[in-house]
Amino acid sequence: MSSDINIQRAKDHDNLTETEKKHVPVIEAPSEVIAGEPFDVKVTVGDIPHVMEDDHYIQWIELYLNGDLVGRKELQASEGKAEATFTAVGTEEMISAREIRNCTIHGFGVCGICGTRSAIVNLRAVESCNVHGLWEDSKGIEIISSTTKAGKKCTWGPQL
Ligand SMILES: [Fe+2]
Repeated sequence: MSSDINIQRAKDHDNLTETEKKHVPVIEAPSEVIAGEPFDVKVTVGDIPHVMEDDHYIQWIELYLNGDLVGRKELQASEGKAEATFTAVGTEEMISAREIRNCTIHGFGVCGICGTRSAIVNLRAVESCNVHGLWEDSKGIEIISSTTKAGKKCTWGPQL
């Protein structure tokens, strides 16, 4: 598990510095998934591919979903590419937990037409460069409940 100490993030995603372009992990994932259905997440370092040389390379990449470690890939310079693909699964519990936690501040959605519930949870990638340290980025991914009309995204009604 990586510590949260000294992890660097992009200061402005629209204006990345050269160092940020080479180190901020790029997360490719569906914007919405169905609870219980595995999905792939590809993490690449970075926007400009980071070098993989013996004295300067990406050592590992980790992926977290909703704060839990999905996987960690150890890398070596000889692999040539700083990327990893993980398989993650959203759960009904992630939606239920969000409902309890956020119902008073409208952070949880129920479709007013079909009743499908969903919650946006955090997908977070962390990587370690042996020269430039730890870098992370994150994005929201919408987990849609499979217990009602699965995946039907329509007009969201009144929030709980
Ligand atoms: Fe680096």
